[in-house]
Amino acid sequence: MELDFLSLTRKYPFPEKRPRHHVAPYLYVPYVKLKVVPQNYPLPISSLDWTKVFQNGKSPDFLDIGTGRGWFLLQIAVLNPEKNILGIEIRKNCVDWLEMVIRGEKIQNAGILWYNVLNGLNFVEDKSLEAVYYLFPDPWPKSKHEKRRAMTKETLGELINKLKVGGSIFFATDLLEIHKFHLTLLKEFETIVSCKEVPSQQSWDLPATNKELSCIRRGVNFYRIIATKVTEILPT
Ligand SMILES: C[S@@+](CC[C@H](N)C(=O)[O-])C[C@H]1O[C@@H](n2cnc3c(N)ncnc32)[C@H](O)[C@@H]1O
Repeated sequence: MELDFLSLTRKYPFPEKRPRHHVAPYLYVPYVKLKVVPQNYPLPISSLDWTKVFQNGKSPDFLDIGTGRGWFLLQIAVLNPEKNILGIEIRKNCVDWLEMVIRGEKIQNAGILWYNVLNGLNFVEDKSLEAVYYLFPDPWPKSKHEKRRAMTKETLGELINKLKVGGSIFFATDLLEIHKFHLTLLKEFETIVSCKEVPSQQSWDLPATNKELSCIRRGVNFYRIIATKVTEILPT
């Protein structure tokens, strides 16, 4: 099966011409830090019934955090029919659109969850993932907005814990300061993960994301890291 993003967007028109970049700022706040829980806030999830997400009823092999419009998610699923991929996205309109495409195109190994990754991944079994993709996250480059970033030391520690040994987290960003922030976070786990930087001119054998395609079109450089888990996390 081959996918063509343009044909997909014609067949399944996106509700807005351009989905708004940032939704309400409170959505980026972890549940435990909210004073009042707004009505349209995706609540924390402690478990999921995978038979309702993937046709083979198994748990995900890959996680795509901040799926956005999901071209990457859809392609990975189609290219790896024997693997399950779960996207996690906070923008409801992107999630609704992807649900429609996944159902319409019968892509049975892809799932999309309306969720804030900062609320934890209790629903994913430890040491079960082969890959986590964290590609072109919302930049929030100002340090005063650092708390809105989806990647924190806690999130990263949890993601590493969810990876099998030999599994990898793939990072990409077009902002040097965010790339440096990722490297600094990864340094905290240097006994557990081994990191390799991949320049934007070099292929890393993954489909391009919507944002990556836009960077390529505009001639914008981007920075990538593959962090591979080399050992189990030792108890602290
Ligand atoms: C710039 S877009 C990139 C989308 C896609 N990965 C790509 O490369 O085209 C970043 C996405 O991350 C999502 N996001 C940001 N913080 C999030 C969080 N805490 N939990 C889930 N998704 C989040 C945003 O809503 C947005 O769709």
